[in-house]
Amino acid sequence: MERYIIKGGKPLVGEVVIGGAKNAALGILAAAVMTDGVCTIDNMPNVRDINVLLQAIQEIGATVNRKSPNEVEISGRGINPDDLTVDNDFIRKIRAGYYLIGALLGRYKKAKVVLPGGCEIGARPIDQHIKGFRALGAKVVIEQGMIIAEAEVLKGNHIYLDVVSVGATINIMIAASMAVGNTIIENAAKEPHIVDVANFLNSMGANIKGAGTDVIRIRGVEAFHNTEYSIIPDQIEAGTFMMAAAATRGDVIVKNIIPKHMEAISAKLLEIGAEVTESDDAIRVKADHRLKHTQIKTLPYPGFPTDMQPQMAVTLGLSTGTSMIVESIFENRFRYVEELRKMGSNFKILDGSTAIITGVEKYVGAELDAPDLRAGAALVIAGLAADGYTTINQIGYIQRGYERFEEKLRGLGGRIEKVDSDEELNRFIFSSGSVKKN
Ligand code: UD1
Repeated sequence: MERYIIKGGKPLVGEVVIGGAKNAALGILAAAVMTDGVCTIDNMPNVRDINVLLQAIQEIGATVNRKSPNEVEISGRGINPDDLTVDNDFIRKIRAGYYLIGALLGRYKKAKVVLPGGCEIGARPIDQHIKGFRALGAKVVIEQGMIIAEAEVLKGNHIYLDVVSVGATINIMIAASMAVGNTIIENAAKEPHIVDVANFLNSMGANIKGAGTDVIRIRGVEAFHNTEYSIIPDQIEAGTFMMAAAATRGDVIVKNIIPKHMEAISAKLLEIGAEVTESDDAIRVKADHRLKHTQIKTLPYPGFPTDMQPQMAVTLGLSTGTSMIVESIFENRFRYVEELRKMGSNFKILDGSTAIITGVEKYVGAELDAPDLRAGAALVIAGLAADGYTTINQIGYIQRGYERFEEKLRGLGGRIEKVDSDEELNRFIFSSGSVKKN
């Protein structure tokens, strides 16, 4: 079983280049099957969730031509409209397979897609997606673990989302882009990846306005065409490296990003005493002293992202004073706290949604299990900041969303290695931090 072994205690220093946004890519790749033309998509992150989605896309007959690890050509030509079933052991484990419902329903007016999996961070219902598809005139049923959606004609409608949902906004937007007439999505999510999926659809010929605000207006079109598109940088990968710089008291320039997307994270780092310097497409985070406490509530964009909550918590766990984090998006997002306790942290969880964090001077290395994707990345940060050795099991979660994570961290001087056996682990410990270069 692959694990990370980390020798902590060394500040991260240097430059790191951020890849394309996973959560934008998932929507974009699914939407690409809506044309028989060729969509050339660049800056695609080469991570597990993306590869699983590409495989599912191929399995329904679409053409997937991987030009390089980060560039792909997709064409819906070859899809058999009489068999639009999306199911395999891998797609069951990810969340974003459900964007194929929006894409196939939009284009072929029917879809049969396995219910989504994804990280166990809460109940994660899909009622708003279904409400949206039904409002567009589709009949939607759930049978034997599959979501089956069908419509004679998909017709534009006025849809008010009861909760601000990234997934539902993207999914309804994709389907409605090929409906007859106009759709208005109100109380839409505003995340940068929603804008990116809308821009991609527009580049294929869709007519979507208002993405990035809470009212999205879509005029349905009949057909899409070829496009070439480059995915935006990953806000959460960038934020993770910013937090890693802060927690290890390092000095890191995070490159190839859109600083505007990072505002909630930059503001909190500034508030706790880190130096944060922005340039056109980079942010430098420097922290040469112990940082301070603060209060945080996770919120939909432009609020503080729930996907950055564990990384921020790890940083606050080393800061002075007492911090508070309120998780308002998902019910089960503090599972990493139990792991972090093994490192000597001082967290108290009240009613499942609030963490009270009393900062400690140092974490100490421990053997940990990654409970989910972002919490896994946060535990890596904790290990890099800790005294001694940390092992992290279940790193498959981390590989779902971070490309070459350990390699990028080593580029910043982090002493971390992916090992596959006790022998390899002991070799790393023996060499006591002299890290093998790839
Ligand atoms: C997406 C991201 C995930 C991120 C989350 C919030 C992907 C693949 N995943 O997840 O990394 O943490 O946005 O930024 O893009 N809800 C409902 N009914 C629905 C849909 C959602 O009640 O039909 C609730 C959820 O339980 C949650 C909240 O709405 O409490 C927000 O969820 P949502 O924005 O939909 O998250 P995902 O799209 O699943």
